[in-house]
Amino acid sequence: MSEKWGFDTTAIHAGSAPDPATGARQVPIYQTTAYVFQDAAHAARLFGLREVGYIYSRLTNPTVAALQARVAELEGGAGAVCCSSGHAAQIMALFPLMGPGKNVIASTRLYGGTITQFSQTIKRFGWSCKFVDLDDLDALRAAVDDDTRAIFCESISNPGGYVTDIPAVAKVADQVGLPLIVDNTLATPWLCKPIEMGATLVVHSLTKYMTGNGTVTGGVIVDSGKFDWSASGKFPSLSEPEPAYHGLKFHDTFGALAYTFHGIAIGLRDLGMTMNPQAAHYTLMGIETLGLRMERHVGNAQKVAEWLEADPRVTSVTYAGLASSPWNATARRVYPKGAGALFTFAIKGGYDAAVKLVDNLKLFSHVANLGDSRSLVIHSASTTHSQLTDEQKIAAGAGPDVVRLSIGIEDAADIIADLDQALAASTA
Ligand SMILES: Cc1ncc(COP(=O)(O)O)c(C=O)c1O
Repeated sequence: MSEKWGFDTTAIHAGSAPDPATGARQVPIYQTTAYVFQDAAHAARLFGLREVGYIYSRLTNPTVAALQARVAELEGGAGAVCCSSGHAAQIMALFPLMGPGKNVIASTRLYGGTITQFSQTIKRFGWSCKFVDLDDLDALRAAVDDDTRAIFCESISNPGGYVTDIPAVAKVADQVGLPLIVDNTLATPWLCKPIEMGATLVVHSLTKYMTGNGTVTGGVIVDSGKFDWSASGKFPSLSEPEPAYHGLKFHDTFGALAYTFHGIAIGLRDLGMTMNPQAAHYTLMGIETLGLRMERHVGNAQKVAEWLEADPRVTSVTYAGLASSPWNATARRVYPKGAGALFTFAIKGGYDAAVKLVDNLKLFSHVANLGDSRSLVIHSASTTHSQLTDEQKIAAGAGPDVVRLSIGIEDAADIIADLDQALAASTA
């Protein structure tokens, strides 16, 4: 039925039928750890994955399940698994695909925390990452080797707001037989649906626009259900008997839902990066207004970016929605509703002026977050990207004179007035 619905109707209704026990119209917070089995046979069927149901909230919970259904529907996926944060979603997404000695190819333009996670932390699992400029499709092809198991990018990237040509990258992924994982946090399915463009998996930090008001941390992995996990023999956790689930063959048994079932039965069960039902409830409520908010976010971002670009105190603005951006043609083609609401600008006066600007803003909140209804600011080089080398910072668009803005849904005139007074104070 929901296939006929538009985006906003889906955002409100998908996954949330009235509660069968009480008729409650809003999805209740099922604040429970466990679920009473009907009898011993029922318990055995649930544990054997012969019947789908609730066992224990580390794996499944009805509030979280409603959110999974809603996000899967919005992204056009076969299934989704929620988890405790966006970073957890990235590890959970790679977990069934990787193994010691295997590598992922990731874009050079990523959130700084992801660059650290991929360049440092995953080494502890014996995994590695090759960073490639995904605008260079030949470089991407050349980076693929026998041990590569996935390609990873952000649709719109943090902090620069640069955009990825998802259809072009998906085409290469398809040619080399690898799954493409797209972090769609900054675009949200309102601006871009990576699965429709050929992506295999979509991950989100639900912490950002999806919830939309800075109240929770959460993540999700959405599976397109379209990748053939058995074709190449490279994904034995999904295609071969899985020793962590008494030899179950996930792809044979669950078909298009193999990856989703694996994510719950093994990913959440053994890694335990579970989303709590309160967080799921807040996120469900946030998603109800996603379309309205994103429309205002991108409208405001376009106005603010144009105003900044015309200001002599500003050296450059990265917003891909600007005609001057090298990514503008890609943005118009792949993200026709707008280029997101996160971008950076460089200020005359270098590091000192950038830091002073942050200290002088009054309406903007100086926080390590983005995608809030409030406008937010941060100096990435000294904070979110501080673990990176100077070279990585510049590649990620986080140089010393650069300030990152997450444009909120306040009145655009008020946002601009605040920037104006802070620029005056910092460049005087
Ligand atoms: C694009 C992107 N992906 C993933 C994350 C990680 O999300 P979380 O903070 O929910 O772990 C962030 C955090 O800022 C992000 O900006």
